[in-house]
Amino acid sequence: MTEPEGPADTFSLDSQELPFEPGQTVLQAAVQAGRYIPHLCWHPDFAPHGSCRVCSVLVNGRPGAACTVKAAAGIDVQSNTEPLNAHRKTLLQMLFVEGNHFCPSCEKSGNCLLQATAYEMGMEGPHFDEVYPDRPVDASHPELLLDFNRCILCELCVRASHEVDHKDVFAIGGHGMATHLLVNSPSGRLADTNMAATDRAAQVCPVGVILPKRRGFQVPIGARRFDAHPVSEQVDKEQR
Ligand code: SF4
Ligand code: FES
Repeated sequence: MTEPEGPADTFSLDSQELPFEPGQTVLQAAVQAGRYIPHLCWHPDFAPHGSCRVCSVLVNGRPGAACTVKAAAGIDVQSNTEPLNAHRKTLLQMLFVEGNHFCPSCEKSGNCLLQATAYEMGMEGPHFDEVYPDRPVDASHPELLLDFNRCILCELCVRASHEVDHKDVFAIGGHGMATHLLVNSPSGRLADTNMAATDRAAQVCPVGVILPKRRGFQVPIGARRFDAHPVSEQVDKEQR
């Protein structure tokens, strides 16, 4: 005889009880329950990276990243609070000024998780001085364009190329403000790798760095994923 299943363990997210499965992180449990916790570098198909800190929450009063903190019975998680959202907005503003993000001319506008999250957090301007880094575009590949200006260093392409495509096309180089995305080829050009447009790494970028060529603005602005509904209302569509 099998034991009858007891009630699922729960924890509190913004004063509402949430069930979780053993081993799940706070963010996984939240997504499963359709609850939004802002995030950028997390993707359901990959191990958490914990680098963007946009998913910062308070767990029993202590700061933690919702994508890495394990859910546990009875913990109290605060996420949607004014100070935490202000912190997230500051992180987003820093990301925007560290790169060159010209949303109106970006093919990813309306489908971009950075842009959607900034709208969600009420970001209306950069606040900090723009850095305007010099980041050349790599248009060498016949099928794919790389616009490094928009890279937020989430490493999803690095992880996808390594774990799914088994190609290691991308890597991260440099330190501090000079940290940047690299193409792993002797020339540093994408054309000199074995990357294909069908690779997972070509699909996973949450912003507009890795783009298919010859498909510009096929879906018009206004008809894109985040044009109709904010990111917080699309927790069920975690594929991007
Ligand atoms: Fe992330 Fe895109 Fe930059 Fe890769 S290219 S690190 S997926 S933002
Ligand atoms: Fe958790 Fe980026 S989503 S640190």
